[in-house]
Amino acid sequence: MKIEALHEFHNKDFSKGWADRFTPTPPRIELFETILERIKTLGDSSCHIVELGIGPGYLAHFLLSRLENITYEGVDYALPMLDLAAERLSEFKDRTTFTQADLTDPNWINAIRQPKAIVTTWALHDLFNADNILSVYQNTQKVLIENGIFLNGDFIKPDLVEFEYEAGRLEKNTHLDLLQLAGFQSIDCIKEFEKNIDQPTTSNNYACFEARKFSK
Ligand SMILES: C[S@@+](CC[C@H](N)C(=O)[O-])C[C@H]1O[C@@H](n2cnc3c(N)ncnc32)[C@H](O)[C@@H]1O
Repeated sequence: MKIEALHEFHNKDFSKGWADRFTPTPPRIELFETILERIKTLGDSSCHIVELGIGPGYLAHFLLSRLENITYEGVDYALPMLDLAAERLSEFKDRTTFTQADLTDPNWINAIRQPKAIVTTWALHDLFNADNILSVYQNTQKVLIENGIFLNGDFIKPDLVEFEYEAGRLEKNTHLDLLQLAGFQSIDCIKEFEKNIDQPTTSNNYACFEARKFSK
């Protein structure tokens, strides 16, 4: 058995089906709460936040509801997902923007407004391999404002697991190494979610990584 998911997000029916199937569960809301708490440590209630792979906008809705002065930019390469997010976030339209960009093309950083926080959940494993994830980490480090924060809550390949995993699901220590290679500081894996070693599904085993950009 190989742990891998379908990535047909350019297809409208697939994206709608994905959004309906993956409405946030309690563990995922715990991940959103973890991200919220870490953003609050910035002490900047009106900061600009960019979300990579915004999908249907569940995390965005959670954060925009609780941080009343932030501005929020959702990045995704799939128009059906950007449409779903825009619909979900319509009540926040004065504070949200949407940018279509492919994260495997390093030019995505030229398409966004410079943020104080970059967040992402369940998305970077879709970039196929560690090289593409490192490139996103490097560009994230480059585009963040000084003292900014990066929070990535993504699927990992658990240590000592017997199953084969798709190449974008990296081990925890690989993420930590890549974040260091990208020039981040204060790197940590702050929490793991839905750990399942014996009978893992494609939506088990994710972790929240935090990294900061400090002035040299
Ligand atoms: C599994 S969904 C997760 C959606 C959302 N982040 C969540 O947690 O509910 C992955 C999202 O990443 C987007 N994505 C995948 N590969 C991408 C790429 N190369 N560039 C930009 N977005 C991408 C997909 O279109 C999709 O919206």
